Amino acid sequence: MADRSPSNSPSKGKAQPNPKPESREQPVLPPDRPSNPRRRPVGALAFWTYLTISVGLLSLLLSPLLSQRDQHSWFLSLPPDLRLHFSQGKLIKIHPSPQLPFRVFAIDSSPAEFSETVLLLPGLACNSFSFRHVLSALRSCGLRTVALDPPGSGFSEIPRVPGGLEDVFNQIRDKGIFWAFDQMVETGHAPYEEIRAKESFSPYGPAEIGHVIKEVVREMNLGPVHLVIHDSMLASGANFAASYPSLVRSVTLLDSAAGLPAFPYWALGIPVAGRLILKSPSMFFKLMRLCCSRSIDMPAVESQRLLLLRKDGSRGVVGMAKALNYSFDLREWKELDGVKEMPFQLLWSNNWSDRWIEEGRRAAFAVPEGKFSYHLGGRWSQEDNIKEITERIVEFVTSLPKTIRKVTKESSEDLGEKALEGNDHSLH
Ligand SMILES: *[C@@H]1O[C@H](CO)[C@@H](O)[C@H](O)[C@H]1NC(C)=O
Ligand SMILES: *[C@@H]1O[C@H](CO)[C@@H](O)[C@H](O)[C@H]1NC(C)=O
Repeated sequence: MADRSPSNSPSKGKAQPNPKPESREQPVLPPDRPSNPRRRPVGALAFWTYLTISVGLLSLLLSPLLSQRDQHSWFLSLPPDLRLHFSQGKLIKIHPSPQLPFRVFAIDSSPAEFSETVLLLPGLACNSFSFRHVLSALRSCGLRTVALDPPGSGFSEIPRVPGGLEDVFNQIRDKGIFWAFDQMVETGHAPYEEIRAKESFSPYGPAEIGHVIKEVVREMNLGPVHLVIHDSMLASGANFAASYPSLVRSVTLLDSAAGLPAFPYWALGIPVAGRLILKSPSMFFKLMRLCCSRSIDMPAVESQRLLLLRKDGSRGVVGMAKALNYSFDLREWKELDGVKEMPFQLLWSNNWSDRWIEEGRRAAFAVPEGKFSYHLGGRWSQEDNIKEITERIVEFVTSLPKTIRKVTKESSEDLGEKALEGNDHSLH
């Protein structure tokens, strides 16, 4: 490492301490450079460390600005209905333990008075925008309806694992390849093992997403909710319900299987073709009609395409797909204490494919006590069969005993009574 003889030009502005050549190492700076007597002599290695730290700090300071500008121009390219959707929701900061904090988008569609809260959990590559019509239809039936964008999808941020391969790659990209060499000199080995260990942790695992759901419920004070789990969100929704049964009033599975997402995430994972598909409105449209909904319209598909086109949008989806629990057992989960007592409903497309109908039969078999109904929509029925889906959810939720909300200590008893009075008139 010591025989590296780089040009000094980048050091002048960035390296704070003036490195001074040391006798046992090769000089880094030309001898005519005035040395500062107050500073301790520093070796070449230390010089690079200082340089690395200052460049690292600079890029740390600059990168939020740069990515903010990226985000800004991407946001301005979105159609007005997507921007309106964004303005009606909010970003909730999540603090997962081994990861860096990130923000999740959630939208709250509340009638003036309500007693029941529905929480929509969209599946892979899907988001709250896809449920926009269901959100407003449920609200007009007197249900408070909240939908969230899964981490890395829609308007939610991409969670990052500090020290993972992606993080190290970003650091090298930001700090230069010499930073990586210096890391190796400092630690004496290439940090493959540590990176690999960190890589095996996914911020999209069912337990991690379950934590995100809990944080959203807590932050928005949703209280006990009627979960509507769509598509591949099953394992994460299940994790949340099993961990916090007191926060769940009922569960509706909307064409939901843990390991069979409708969205063709594999196509996005193909190195060049994935990007081409995302760049081509007509190809993406055909793919969505083939895989998600036969009658989804072009503007809806365009919105989904534009949401995936943001920086790292498709990487979020591919990361999420990798973390799906393909061995999830519906029956085993349904038998758990706390989940056993939850009322269940299953809504299934009988108009999609034989394989999907078979999957529905299997789900009905796993949850025999659940209320099973077929519908005529596709796998993303929220886009093509809004009326039927909404009616089934409203029927099911209102057939259950009313939710008694626990009044928080902060709100006075009067307030609680008023809320309960209001609830009596909220339905029909
Ligand atoms: C995946 O599902 C199986 C069966 O339901 C369960 O035992 C396992 O813990 C799940 N894995 C994760 C990571 O949640
Ligand atoms: C699905 O339903 C539509 C409308 O009812 C019908 O026209 C179509 O033939 C059905 N497709 C299949 C595969 O059953």
